[in-house]
Amino acid sequence: MNRVLKSIVGATLSLCVLVSAAACTSTPTNTAPANAGTDSQAAASSSPTPSAKGKKVGVAMPTKSSERWIRDGNNMKDQLEKLGYAVDLQYAEDDVQAQVSQIENMITSGANCLVVASIDSSALVNVLEEAKKNSIPVIAYDRLLMDTDAVSYYATFDNKGVGTLIGKYIEEKAGLKDGKGPYNIELFAGSPDDNNAHFLNTGAMEVLQPYIDGGKLKVVSGQTDFDKICILRWSQETAQKRMEDLLSGYYSTGKDVDIVLSPFDGISYGIAAALEGAGYKVGEKWPMITGQDAETMAVKNIRSGKQSMTVFKDTRVLAAKCVTMVQAVLEGKEPEINDKTSYNNGKLVVPSYLCNPVAIYKDNIQKELIDSGYYKQSDIS
Ligand code: BGC
Repeated sequence: MNRVLKSIVGATLSLCVLVSAAACTSTPTNTAPANAGTDSQAAASSSPTPSAKGKKVGVAMPTKSSERWIRDGNNMKDQLEKLGYAVDLQYAEDDVQAQVSQIENMITSGANCLVVASIDSSALVNVLEEAKKNSIPVIAYDRLLMDTDAVSYYATFDNKGVGTLIGKYIEEKAGLKDGKGPYNIELFAGSPDDNNAHFLNTGAMEVLQPYIDGGKLKVVSGQTDFDKICILRWSQETAQKRMEDLLSGYYSTGKDVDIVLSPFDGISYGIAAALEGAGYKVGEKWPMITGQDAETMAVKNIRSGKQSMTVFKDTRVLAAKCVTMVQAVLEGKEPEINDKTSYNNGKLVVPSYLCNPVAIYKDNIQKELIDSGYYKQSDIS
């Protein structure tokens, strides 16, 4: 936690400077990166709107233990406040019951709209029903809210696309299309109670399954089912323990692991720690390791060779898109959406806006993360 907080202070400060600069120039798209394409149009206007006066938005975030959610929360608060909304931003430190209580408090203290990035996507059904009874619109942030009809819109990234980027990176860098291999691979997935984890896994396996079937990728442990490879709460510690077990159980007889599919930078750190513990060294038979979120430590690890790639999800763009949804529901308008089919939560297909994820590797760190203003050079060196 201290590691995360320390590393994020610099980045957050630079983001604040960037966002205030954007507000001064009144060019709203300044908060979006050059690569965001149409996503940049998602950025909300940064001048106060009369309709925001006296309105309060509750923003429920899952945890501060990973950098991205701190950025998401800061961006949401900052952008909503610029428009004139009051913001109640809460983090629940991956405690499902704490998140339920926080949302209950937001409802009783008069929130006009709720933005929720859930911990357990199905655990909020009752509290969201309460919001609905009180006519408080709810927007799902990044993670789909499952089994409820009390959700109006969903702002997220193309979650299957994240998996596709990871799968394609492995396919290309391992030369699988050119018939190279066989390679030993182990697979990890995210939290089973997070819909995104399933979408990512589907996207990655769509690319990799043919190579597993054709024998060019060998899952030495034989563990390929989602329920065997998933990591509850995306926990670094659980991932490290699983990797240690895989190494001692299946790789102690002279076999090396060549590739590890990791769906999140935090999980990648756990995997790397287990590998180091088992005597692997960067530069010497160190496996290809993927990731997600472009955390500052992951970017440093990509530079040093400890991690091979990550997936950048620009939290400025996502927050800006979500803010346009808040504005729309509070003003009785329709926000822009670009997906009406992918996200069935068990009760309804939630109208969604999917932002573009971008694969990051050594060669495009400068362009995607520095030139876009997301990080300063000093954040990642
Ligand atoms: C998010 C990822 C994140 C993961 C762990 C997922 O729901 O989409 O960006 O890496 O949670 O926090």
